[in-house]
Amino acid sequence: MNVLGIETSCDETSAAVVAGAAGSDAARVASCVILSQDVHQVYKGVVPELASRAHLTALGPVVDRALGDARLDLEDLDLIAVTEGPGLIGALLVGVSFAKGLALATGKPLIGVHHLEAHLFGTALEDPAAVPPFVGLIVSGGHSLLLDVPAWGTYRLLGETRDDAVGEAFDKVGSLLGLGYPGGPAVEKAAREGDPARFTLPRPMLNARQRPGDADYFDLSMSGLKTAVIHALRTSRDPAADTVHLARGFQDAVIEVLVTKTLRAVEACGRARVVLGGGVACNRALREAMAAALQRRGATLHAPSPRLSTDNAAMIARAGIFHAGEAGTSPLDAAARLPFPGLVRA
Ligand code: KG4
Ligand code: ZN
Repeated sequence: MNVLGIETSCDETSAAVVAGAAGSDAARVASCVILSQDVHQVYKGVVPELASRAHLTALGPVVDRALGDARLDLEDLDLIAVTEGPGLIGALLVGVSFAKGLALATGKPLIGVHHLEAHLFGTALEDPAAVPPFVGLIVSGGHSLLLDVPAWGTYRLLGETRDDAVGEAFDKVGSLLGLGYPGGPAVEKAAREGDPARFTLPRPMLNARQRPGDADYFDLSMSGLKTAVIHALRTSRDPAADTVHLARGFQDAVIEVLVTKTLRAVEACGRARVVLGGGVACNRALREAMAAALQRRGATLHAPSPRLSTDNAAMIARAGIFHAGEAGTSPLDAAARLPFPGLVRA
């Protein structure tokens, strides 16, 4: 089947066509158009109203382009899949309303997709081995989730952030250090020049006394680490020179926490694969540290390319293929929140 995916949950307007078959892991990305809204850079954060308006003007041409790149017409589609949540409500409404209109006009089935479930599917579009059973780590600007995925459609939530998402922490630290927005790529770049021994920052929610079954064994927290960066900056004698060292200290702390919690999940669930997703998966230092730590345990890391790590409609279309049989039954609840279908707390 040819599935058109539409993604407008935050600040990327994206449409993609993915060809695949329900029940099969083989899927081909026929096209994927991603328009990143740069208007938000001025405000150092996503302004919801501006995001909605930008989606409104961009979505029609972006969908046309995705169909054109795939050399398909609307009649060739078998399904339309759209992100129904979570995300910015106005932004979601643009995508959902557009998709509903398209489905009504063409008579094609429509399905609503949960954005976070879709992130789990994204990696498999490039890496055929990134399929269940695996431990999934989704780290984006809005969410941080550690999951056990025994099969597609069955998700055991092991841990999540108690406060800031990992990407959000990168963005806030980037802004504190005057590195611009979004903070993730800028902090990573600065950290490469930084001395790892200059600042040793706290590893939140991580200590050797934690045991499986403890509430904080898998959970994450970023806000104390952010505060530690603020204090270090305030007491620094040369904040300009310390910027790169603080970026390094912050990133090293985040990576150690993420790697340790993921290894705990691999051990507890007996999995041999870890699938990474979300914008923070672009971070090379994280990928390298994670891959090396997993290799020592005989496990493998499966991380998407930067293009499919950040928000994109190809992963939405791929999740749509999995849920294809359910088309028409989705309430298309644009305010969808966790837990998503199939997700239970472990
Ligand atoms: O998945 P995504 O595109 O959007 C959300 O669903 O939130 O993730 C965006 C987040 C931002 O917080 C951004 O700073 C972060 O991913 N990010 C990174 C890197 N590239 C993007 N964080 C750390 N290192 C990076 N290289
Ligand atoms: Zn996302």
